[in-house]
Amino acid sequence: MSETAKVHKQFLSTKVEHFTESVIREMTRQAMVHGAINLAQGFPDFSAPEEVKRAAQEAVASDINQYAITWGAKSLRNAIARKMRKWQALEIDPEREITVCCGSTEAMISTLLAMCNSGDEVVIFEPFYENYGPDAILSGANPRFVKLRPPASPGAEWTFDENELRKAFHNHTKAVILNTPNNPTGKVFSREELELVRDLCVEFDVIAITDEIYEHIIYDGVKHISMATLDGMRDRTVTINGLSKTYSVTGWRVGWTVAPPEITDAIRKVHDFLTVGAPAPLQEAGAIALDLPQGYYEKLAERYRTRRDHLIPSLAEAGFHCFRPRGAYYVMTDISAFEFADDISFTRHLVSEIGVAAVPGSSFYHDPHNGARQVRFAFCKREQTIDEAARRLKKLRT
Ligand SMILES: Cc1ncc(COP(=O)(O)O)c(C=O)c1O
Repeated sequence: MSETAKVHKQFLSTKVEHFTESVIREMTRQAMVHGAINLAQGFPDFSAPEEVKRAAQEAVASDINQYAITWGAKSLRNAIARKMRKWQALEIDPEREITVCCGSTEAMISTLLAMCNSGDEVVIFEPFYENYGPDAILSGANPRFVKLRPPASPGAEWTFDENELRKAFHNHTKAVILNTPNNPTGKVFSREELELVRDLCVEFDVIAITDEIYEHIIYDGVKHISMATLDGMRDRTVTINGLSKTYSVTGWRVGWTVAPPEITDAIRKVHDFLTVGAPAPLQEAGAIALDLPQGYYEKLAERYRTRRDHLIPSLAEAGFHCFRPRGAYYVMTDISAFEFADDISFTRHLVSEIGVAAVPGSSFYHDPHNGARQVRFAFCKREQTIDEAARRLKKLRT
């Protein structure tokens, strides 16, 4: 390290020393350097719905270009409340219980900053969406991890041990972060599993923060169950969602929290001073998007099912052991069949020599060792992108 670098290092917060830059976003940069097919980061390479794009264009043209109300444009908050009533049968007050943020990413960190004091603990199922680790650290909370174990046989589900979950809860626990449908595993938590979490939340007086951004991307007849709909959880849950995945607009940066009024007040304060507000014209377009008819959501899930069923056989043929997802748009795989030291050296080879970018499993675990035999692929891509990836993956066999 140079002398200047040493001098500069003393100015840095110790918090940032405890996490690295996003590995997922780094893999996207690597894909660009190597001209690789990007099956790493979860963004579609196809168009967003025409009516949603048109609504954004019209909002800009009709001069909705200044700050929206800090906690979200009224039209979007009303649309969120309508959608919660229609899909979850929940009555939400858009004036007191909804905060629109810059993506569900900001919604999560604003929630944790609003809730956590130094030393509070937050229970996180792992493997986990990589943002949750740094989010917990930045908010001063200590993460407690509970393992999701891979399916033992084809057709089985990722599971967790009830006793391990119980042991993670105690009197310093402030919240449990739940992500269903789950990234990276594709697990959709069952009612029984959610009830176990619910019972612990009630017993230990803990809030559930549930990231439900993939709620409409589900397969094989499984049902998405929203934590807030369980008995006793309406006033004990912060539900996080956003436009990114359901409407294929990950670059718009519009997400939200739905939380009881006192928690919403605190989230709104943090959100206000972090970002002031989410993009105003895109919030107006979001209000139109949320009212799309049921058929839109059915088609969305069906198209992703086709892509899943297209990618998995190609991965299996190339030598991966695939854990079939029930929801979200990722396939977690086991790479034990390949002779590589770990997931990092494997994904490096994959991006530079094979021409396909994927995410090393270790980035979803607090102890990298636990993910060293796993690699995640995203299938939110056009059929021809998946075809080309499949063609390139064949080279792994030669
Ligand atoms: C589980 C999960 N939550 C949140 C996000 C980010 O969502 P947003 O674009 O709304 O910030 C992602 C993106 O991949 C995700 O997988």
